[in-house]
Amino acid sequence: MESIIFFAGGCFWGVEHFFKGVDGVLATMPGYANGTIDNPSYEQVYTDTTGYAETVRVTYDPSRVSLERLVKLFFAIIDPLSLNRQGHDEGTRYRTGVYYTSAGERPIIEEVFRGVSERIGEQLVVELEPLRSFWSAEEYHRDYLDKNASGYCHLPLKAFRYLRLYQDVELMLGDEPDPVARQAETAALIAERMHFFWTGFYRVSGQELVLGPFQGPAACLRIAYGRGVCGTAWQRAATIVVPDVEEFPGHIACSSLSRSEIVVPLIRDGAVTVVLDIDSTETGTFDSTDAVWLEMIAALV
Ligand code: SME
Repeated sequence: MESIIFFAGGCFWGVEHFFKGVDGVLATMPGYANGTIDNPSYEQVYTDTTGYAETVRVTYDPSRVSLERLVKLFFAIIDPLSLNRQGHDEGTRYRTGVYYTSAGERPIIEEVFRGVSERIGEQLVVELEPLRSFWSAEEYHRDYLDKNASGYCHLPLKAFRYLRLYQDVELMLGDEPDPVARQAETAALIAERMHFFWTGFYRVSGQELVLGPFQGPAACLRIAYGRGVCGTAWQRAATIVVPDVEEFPGHIACSSLSRSEIVVPLIRDGAVTVVLDIDSTETGTFDSTDAVWLEMIAALV
């Protein structure tokens, strides 16, 4: 069985490349959606006067990947608060949107929109509309980043690596019930793929965090609530990105080699149970892309 859904997420070269990497996606086609004229050319769409948005048609097998999951993945690669601009690209042709072909799909998509909006606490500027028209883009736009490996891409390249990692963590964890085994496997996969200096878990135990499965040099065994980056992420129940550990008051230096850090808390039934802590030997390693994907990966654990 096949289903289709249309995603406008900025420049369609990167968006197509991303969805080609999603397990359960059978085919992709870049094109132009929901404009006014027939058979528009790239040059016409480029003028921003045709109403078209650069869009990718995603054909998928719903028994392998759900519509809900596709929409969630779409949100991992867009800025849903940015109107008519994604990355360096600006114009109504780069607006964001999800366009569906069957009214029954709308509530499923709406639910994901609502979840994202509640999490950010702001109104999204992403369109959610029925597909009114779609024209495939010219041949040279198709599989563009496969044909032009160093071609322009508005998405950070690590998003593609994180997608593969996310899917592999999910596959490897399967239905393993043991939380320590899940944490150990996840830490190993993240370290193996992303080559971070230190990747591991601290588990909440009473008023402290206790060292859990990790990859990297020996580390502090216990961290108090509200202390260090880890204890602060626990206290705030929110991800903390630290571009330079020397600028974070109270940072705990388990290793003097660590220069930047990200800590992602796992929240179950409203309480933090575990934090995922990752360190880098360079400053400025982590940004919002790492935060988005590591939160998704942490949610699998
Ligand atoms: N730097 C952390 C302590 C844990 S180590 O980085 C592994 C912190 O300040 O909480």
